Amino acid sequence: MLIAVTRGVSPAIADCELTHLERTPIDVDTAREQHTAYEAALADLGCRIERLPVEPGLPDSVFVEDVAVVLDEVAVITRPGAESRRDERSSIERTLAPYRLLARITSPGILDGGDVLVAGRDVHIGITSRSDLAAIDQFRTIVGDHGYRVHGTAVRGCLHLKSAVTALDDDTLVLNPDRVDVGDLGDRRCISVDPSEPDAANVVRVGGTVLVAAAFPHTAERISAAGFTVRTVEVSELAKAEGALTCCSLLFEVSAT
Ligand code: GLY
Repeated sequence: MLIAVTRGVSPAIADCELTHLERTPIDVDTAREQHTAYEAALADLGCRIERLPVEPGLPDSVFVEDVAVVLDEVAVITRPGAESRRDERSSIERTLAPYRLLARITSPGILDGGDVLVAGRDVHIGITSRSDLAAIDQFRTIVGDHGYRVHGTAVRGCLHLKSAVTALDDDTLVLNPDRVDVGDLGDRRCISVDPSEPDAANVVRVGGTVLVAAAFPHTAERISAAGFTVRTVEVSELAKAEGALTCCSLLFEVSAT
């Protein structure tokens, strides 16, 4: 069974961290409606949703992906690069503890889950304002015994590695080649985003279906033409907070009970 850990939109989301975006007004009700529709899409695709309580004092806390990386063998609790996000960890730790052995990134390392791309046994970690070499070394030590190969990966012009590339399966990536070098990502089939949709590389695969943001129809067509079933979801209000589809859930398998 697939679990999707999510958290409702904070009423303080307008005070979110922004790195590459200008601040524009965010309608909290619309953001909540879009987030609820995103959860409904995940549930419809077979996920069991574990929704954490809203955190009124933590503006970015809807973006649960940044706080943990859940592998089959271990869940790595990150040390988010933005100090304002570090209090998001305690509730995520409590939520993941029944499912996985926990490991932690510790000071001085910084890591956001949005920088961690897992494709088969390769783990690419973006070197960004949120994730650094010290954390990459720690991550390598934590997962090396489980057979993962960890690679530091350069990223340009966006917040996280997964703003540049995500995996459709172990051997297929969707990416924006202006933001990441294809040659850094191993010998995999790469689907480029439509040039008019530079933010479109952030997609979520659930079973045989790929969720694509509704703002990116041309990239959705490319993914569909590559043989994947595509479903679109509207997340325009959450995008104003520099969050994308993967950011809003932690997805992992558990044994059915
Ligand atoms: N607003 C998303 C982030 O900066 O973490």
